[in-house]
Amino acid sequence: MKGIVLSGGSGTRLYPMTRAANKQLLPVYNKPMVYYPLTTLMLAGCREILLVVNPHDEEAYRRLFGDGRQWGLSIDYAVQPKPGGIAEVFLVGKHFIGNDRVGLILGDNLYYGDSLPAVAERGATGSGAWVYAYWVSDPSAYGVVEFDAADPDRPISIVEKPKDPRSNWAVTGLYFYDADVCDVAASIPRSARGELEISDVNAHYLKAGRLTVEKLGRGYAWLDTGTPSSLLRAAQFVETVEDRQGLQIGSPEEVAWRKGYIDDAGLERLIEPIRTAEYGKYLQGLLARR
Ligand code: DAU
Repeated sequence: MKGIVLSGGSGTRLYPMTRAANKQLLPVYNKPMVYYPLTTLMLAGCREILLVVNPHDEEAYRRLFGDGRQWGLSIDYAVQPKPGGIAEVFLVGKHFIGNDRVGLILGDNLYYGDSLPAVAERGATGSGAWVYAYWVSDPSAYGVVEFDAADPDRPISIVEKPKDPRSNWAVTGLYFYDADVCDVAASIPRSARGELEISDVNAHYLKAGRLTVEKLGRGYAWLDTGTPSSLLRAAQFVETVEDRQGLQIGSPEEVAWRKGYIDDAGLERLIEPIRTAEYGKYLQGLLARR
């Protein structure tokens, strides 16, 4: 399965943190932010990954991920010349997608929940467009989906950042599409702010009767990292859960090992150079416990 991590953007709401560093490379507690969405895609079964990045950040991402082989993945890179909207990934990534179904995750979205792998796999193996909705207190900052009053699973509208939201259901940053998404993205007009909006792509599938919106219930956490305080809250969430359980959230090495993408020897090789770091000790503990 193919998956795209969108890791560009200008991160202006996090200035001056993002003046010199790309937003998705900032830490969320003990890992780069982008580790969390990457592992979500891995849990969905995506092993062929395209990272879409800003031109001047490509080198940093290559340093972080290489070609992905160390985690049993194939990681490729594509440059988005400037932030022209989330749906631009389907123009930039057209060649990568080819004729295959594809997952897309935003590089600043953090998901947590017991059945997440199964939930994400449903989208990966489904058809048409498959997105996830999450109940939030302030939906006006997101794409908002409205459901049929008579049929609470049937979406009837999707609007990007509405002033008067018709529900509290935000569309989250994990999406799955058939390969025709490239043609859909090429056919939609740019919005008033000059972007190719992912909500317009989703609205297109809705109109065609090819959109599934799966609700994530209250047992999930979907966290935002867009402002200094939401970034801090995300870090505190990760620290709280990891400290309580002694299990880490968003470790690509661990997910790769648990899914059998790498074996014990492969994990050992990754641990060797970071043996004295807390992260290395954690990974070592996985091998010792089994
Ligand atoms: O987080 C979920 C929300 O993400 C959805 O509910 C909205 O429908 C969707 O439009 C998006 O809204 P945001 O305002 O949060 O999008 P933002 O511009 O912050 O970009 C999200 C991520 O995508 C961020 O990590 C930067 C990256 N990005 C964004 C744009 C517009 C790019 O790499 N390139 C871009 O052109």
